[in-house]
Amino acid sequence: AVFHTRTEEDREFPHAEKKTIADHLRKFEALLTLSPQRMRMIVHAIEETLDKGLQKDGQVVPMIPTFVFGWPTGEEVGEYLALDLGGTNLRVCLVTLQGHGKFEVTQTKYRLTEEQKQDDGQALLDFCAECLDSFIRDSLGRTEKDGLLPLGFTFSYPCSQLRIDHGELIRWTKGFGAPNIEGHDVAAMFKDSLKRLNVPAELTALINDTTGTLIASNYVDPHTKIAVIFGTGCNAAYMETAENIPKMSSVGLPDGQGMAINCEWGAFDSFEHQHLPRTKYDIIIDESSNKPGEQSFEKMIAGLYLGEVFRLIVTDLIDSGDLFLGQNTYKLEKAYAFDTAFLSLMESDTTDELLTVIGVFTHFFGVETTLEERQFFKKLAVLIGTRAARLSACGIAAIVSKKGYLEKGCAVGADGSLYNKYPNFANRVHTALVDIFGEKGKRIVTHHAEDGSGVGSAIIAAMTKARKDKGFF
Ligand code: GLC
Repeated sequence: AVFHTRTEEDREFPHAEKKTIADHLRKFEALLTLSPQRMRMIVHAIEETLDKGLQKDGQVVPMIPTFVFGWPTGEEVGEYLALDLGGTNLRVCLVTLQGHGKFEVTQTKYRLTEEQKQDDGQALLDFCAECLDSFIRDSLGRTEKDGLLPLGFTFSYPCSQLRIDHGELIRWTKGFGAPNIEGHDVAAMFKDSLKRLNVPAELTALINDTTGTLIASNYVDPHTKIAVIFGTGCNAAYMETAENIPKMSSVGLPDGQGMAINCEWGAFDSFEHQHLPRTKYDIIIDESSNKPGEQSFEKMIAGLYLGEVFRLIVTDLIDSGDLFLGQNTYKLEKAYAFDTAFLSLMESDTTDELLTVIGVFTHFFGVETTLEERQFFKKLAVLIGTRAARLSACGIAAIVSKKGYLEKGCAVGADGSLYNKYPNFANRVHTALVDIFGEKGKRIVTHHAEDGSGVGSAIIAAMTKARKDKGFF
C-alpha cells in the first residue's frame, strides 16, 4: 500500500480515488464560504483589535490619527493640486472646489513599473515630483512666477503622523519594497524632492486614500461616516472623537473634537493568525510575498491577491492531474500571472458556452477548456470574490458596531477597482451585512465615492489651510 500524508483538504474524501470536478467544487465551497456565525466571530475580533490600536502605538492594526479634524463644511473652495500614489498608478490632479459639495478635476495618470516599486525611496519620490512638475508646467501652463499651488499628497501606505504634513512610513504594503524610506518621514523627503527639482508646489497635507475618501464622500453626502478602499489594497477610515483616542491624550484636544482615523485594517490578524480562515493558498501567497506574516486580512481581500488565489488553486489541480492533462500549462505556472481582472471578466460572462472564459484561458494561457471546467472556473471566481466581500463586510461591521451606527444607519463611501469593477461586489457586501446584523444591516449602505484620493486630498488641504489661518496647528 502507498501511504501519503493527508492534508485538511483531503480529509473530506477519505476513500475517493479520482475526484471529479463536482467533488472539487464542493471542497472549495466548504473551504471558501464564510457562515454568518463565523463572520460574527471575526467582527468581534476586529472590533477588539481596533480598540487596542487606539490605546497605544505599535499595535498590529495601527489606527493612525490623521490630523484631519472633523468633517468638511461642504463650502471649501479653491484650486488645489493632488498627487495620488496608490498601488498601481500615480495620478496628478488639479482639483477645483466650487463649494456646495461640487468640484471639477483635471488629471493625468502614469502607470508605475515593478522596478519603480522596488527602486530607492527618494528616487520614487523624485519621480512623483517630476510628474507633478510636468503636469503643472505643460498641462496647466503655470510656472514659479504664478506662485506655489497648495498640494495634498495621497500616499496610501501606513504612515504614523505627528502633524498633517508629516508621516513616517511604518512599512510598505501592496508589494512595494523601495529601500531607504521605511521609518522615514515621507513628507519631509517629498518636500526635499520638490525643492531640489524646483517644482512650483507646496506640500500642505499628507493623507491616506481612505481618509481622502472619507472626507470627499462626506463633502458630497454628509450621511457618510465610514470610507473603505477595495483596490490593490484594502483599508478603511472613520471619524473618532478625541476622548476615544487614548494615544492622543497628551496632545490635549478638547473632548468631542473629531479626528479621522486611518485604521490600516489590512494588518488585522497579522503574525499570529488566530482569527482568519486562511487556506493553504492564502498561506502560500503570504509566505512567498515580500512581507511574510504581514497584511493578513488584506491578502485575503484585495485586488492584488484574488487572481493569485485562483491561480494557485488551478495549479494545484494541474499538479494533482485533475486539470489540463497533456497540455502545456507553463503560462499558468508564473506567480501573479492571473490578474484579478480575469476573475471579474469570468464572473460577468453570461453566455451558455462561457465564451469569455474560453478567451481568457486560450488567449492568455494557451490552454483548452471543457464547458464543465469553465463552469467550475466561474464558480471558483464567485467563491473567491464572495469571500473577499464577506470578509471586508466584517471590517465595516466592526466599525459600525464600535461606533453604534446600526440604530440610525450610515452611508459608507467606497472606492477602488474591486468595488467599482468587480460584478456583484457591493451586493455581496450588503448581503453579508444583513447576515451579520439581521434586517438592521440594511441600514448600512455603501456607495461609490467619486475620486476620494484626488478630491479628498484637495478638501483636506483646504481644511488645513483654513485651520492654519485661524492659528490652529
Ligand atoms: C494598503 C495600505 C493602505 C491603503 C490601502 C488601500 O492597505 O496600507 O494605506 O489605504 O492599501 O489603498
